[in-house]
Amino acid sequence: MSSFSTIPKAQKVWMVVRQGKPQTALEFKTDVPVPKPKSGEVLVKVLAAGYNPVGWKLMGTLPNVLTKRPHPAEHDLAGVIVDANGSSFSNGDEVIGYIPVSLQSSSRQGALAQYATLPEDNVVLKPAKLSWEEAAGLPLAAHTAVQSLRLGGYDPTHWLSLNPTSTPTPSNQEAIFINGGSTAIGIYAIQLAKAMSLHVTATASARNESFVRGVGADKFLDYTARPLAEQLSDHPPEPRFGMILDAAGSLDTALYTNSAAYVKNGGAYVTTGPYPDKSGWMCLLGRWAGALLRPSFLGGTPTTWKIVRVVNIKEDMKMLCTLIERGALRPYVDSTYEFGSALDAYERIMTGRATGKVIVKVE
Ligand SMILES: NC(=O)c1ccc[n+]([C@@H]2O[C@H](COP(=O)([O-])OP(=O)(O)OC[C@H]3O[C@@H](n4cnc5c(N)ncnc54)[C@H](OP(=O)(O)O)[C@@H]3O)[C@@H](O)[C@H]2O)c1
Repeated sequence: MSSFSTIPKAQKVWMVVRQGKPQTALEFKTDVPVPKPKSGEVLVKVLAAGYNPVGWKLMGTLPNVLTKRPHPAEHDLAGVIVDANGSSFSNGDEVIGYIPVSLQSSSRQGALAQYATLPEDNVVLKPAKLSWEEAAGLPLAAHTAVQSLRLGGYDPTHWLSLNPTSTPTPSNQEAIFINGGSTAIGIYAIQLAKAMSLHVTATASARNESFVRGVGADKFLDYTARPLAEQLSDHPPEPRFGMILDAAGSLDTALYTNSAAYVKNGGAYVTTGPYPDKSGWMCLLGRWAGALLRPSFLGGTPTTWKIVRVVNIKEDMKMLCTLIERGALRPYVDSTYEFGSALDAYERIMTGRATGKVIVKVE
């Protein structure tokens, strides 16, 4: 029997107890009862947790009355099933799990804990070639990349079903633009787009050029050199982009409002959603409302604007794992921290400079 078969009564957890920055919102608890899986759920012993910006953003913005606290922090995990609870899994299975925001609120589960219960549908078998740290970086960002591309009309599932076994040969007939090629979402999106034989132009700051090209981008733009809308309008791509994926969630509306110059008719602008800077939510909403509400006959932008709202789709996770097994997709880890240093990991992700996932090893 593996050591995973012994389930203790209590566990260590980084618990979100109040609104605020992670340093004040989180408390390290050592006596939290290990949850029992309900019908349809499994119990996972967590070995690694992946961070996402939504973790610290919701800690900072959501007042207690709008969410159910306390709950363990974070949403992405990799670990071992220790109570398969009559599901299709077996005890000892190595898995990847995803606890979306809504599920975290209703179930009060999270990834920054030694144990977590999840619905069977939120768990997939871990590709054997991935380390625990790589695996924990997959769910939320890779889901978002798939669902963003799908919203923009480039559905990786469609590609996979059309080409179930073949390695794609690049046709470069269609082009897309990914703002934020070194974001966790952008890194997955570049690879998925290349798997679909798309021509990819991606951005980051200059220091990340070789990284973004190494992930697979055909063309690189430094967003710090000049406004992107200017760079693209001066040298429109041929063919024009079928979609813009704004994985960085630009605060600047110009990339969208000028998009007729570089996005083809019927193309889409898909964003992960801007997050306000010091000027605040009202300023941000005002700016975007001004850009979006003007009809095209009054000079408004013809490109369709969409915001992605990531959800758990088990088939998407399975497809991502298949692509990993085939070598068409790989996770990138920016940095790994010990469980006791979870707050240092928040310092890292909150810089906005991570290239790949910030991971915490769970004891
Ligand atoms: N709507 C949804 O369902 C959903 C789901 C997941 C995430 N999100 C949001 O999507 C965004 C990205 O998340 P993530 O986890 O992928 O981020 P991340 O990995 O933490 O992003 C870090 C990277 O962002 C790049 N970056 C920062 N500012 C940029 C800018 N103005 N333009 C281009 N690149 C920039 C940095 O590169 P440089 O150092 O080179 O600047 C860095 O490599 C976050 O705002 C997150 O909250 C939304």
